[in-house]
Amino acid sequence: MTKLGIGLLGCGVVGTGILRVIDEKRPLLGTEHDLTLDVRGIVVRDVYRERDSVVDREKLRTDWLSVCADDEIDVVIEVMGGTDTARDAVLTALQNGKSVVTANKEMMAKHGEEIRQVARDHGAHIRFEASVLAGIPVVHTLETYFHMSQILRLRGIMNGTSNYILTRMHNEDLAFDDALQFAQALGYAEADPAMDVDGVDAWCKLQILLDCIGVPQSARVGTDVEGIRNVSKDSIATAKRQRQKVKHVVCAEWDLQSGFVSWNVGPQVLSPDDPLYAIDDVQNAICIDGDVSGTITLSGPGAGALPTASGVLEDVLKIARKLQVSVPV
Ligand code: NDP
Ligand code: HSE
Repeated sequence: MTKLGIGLLGCGVVGTGILRVIDEKRPLLGTEHDLTLDVRGIVVRDVYRERDSVVDREKLRTDWLSVCADDEIDVVIEVMGGTDTARDAVLTALQNGKSVVTANKEMMAKHGEEIRQVARDHGAHIRFEASVLAGIPVVHTLETYFHMSQILRLRGIMNGTSNYILTRMHNEDLAFDDALQFAQALGYAEADPAMDVDGVDAWCKLQILLDCIGVPQSARVGTDVEGIRNVSKDSIATAKRQRQKVKHVVCAEWDLQSGFVSWNVGPQVLSPDDPLYAIDDVQNAICIDGDVSGTITLSGPGAGALPTASGVLEDVLKIARKLQVSVPV
């Protein structure tokens, strides 16, 4: 049996979900994967705050450095969010030879290149499946498929909070602010919901996917990033009368002649024959058009504690398999 020491940076919505899944899947991890995940340290801001019963309070601490330098920890899971402390912690963990799994799209969009380089320099693994569409395996799909196809277009609904807000505005004629409060109460929104409703979160996810596919920054041609704050009740009512829906859509298209990829992020009015029309609530979807593959659509829950924990722990399993092969126990 391989025992992996885990350091958890962050124990909010996602961190607590991860602990819950590790607890529930302990027998399966042992029998099916020959693996024990031993959570040795949990980093938070406030160790005195009330927490879910799955959290072992004795493991709580505020000092991320002690986790990122702990010899007993093999994999650091970063789910604190933000870009500064998270980046420092992730780089430190990688420099100490630890593998890192993160759900932090803002950090990966801003510092992904540096983080991947440090991982390569130290022979460490960095994985970030849950940073894009939570538990929907889009990073896995782009990494393991499309070797025979030239990708021509990515188009998707990539922010669960915006989609949830637009769905409730559409179905219940709610005002934007009321619908946002529901999304926050359900734990879908970022600590700063402006990230979600101003389109930045969706933009970050697109940049991570373009990084994954290997599109250089210089080949990315983008227009403004627009969110959903200016989607009025009137525009939703007009779309509804015409049996259409307003959705927040991310799109990137390849121009094979010039080599440029042009992208845009913003609200669009969709008709029922659009594959994204039926994607409601916190669901996300991505349509990947390949020249040989045709259009492949992945959809599912794009936010929330358990779907995100699923994406994170699938990454931990991928790393465990690599470590199990290279260092048999
Ligand atoms: P939360 O705000 O619920 O949790 C953040 C956690 O990190 C808290 O436990 C907090 O401590 C801790 N924390 C934050 N800053 C620090 C710091 N400087 N030092 C120590 N601890 C810190 O966020 P979420 O769980 O919702 O999100 C976490 C990450 O996952 C983000 O990057 C987010 O973008 C990403 N993500 C979230 C999804 C979701 O559905 N919520 C889906 C996909 C990705 P304390 O508890 O003491 O406040
Ligand atoms: N706040 C994000 C969203 C979480 O609503 O999509 C998942 O990345």
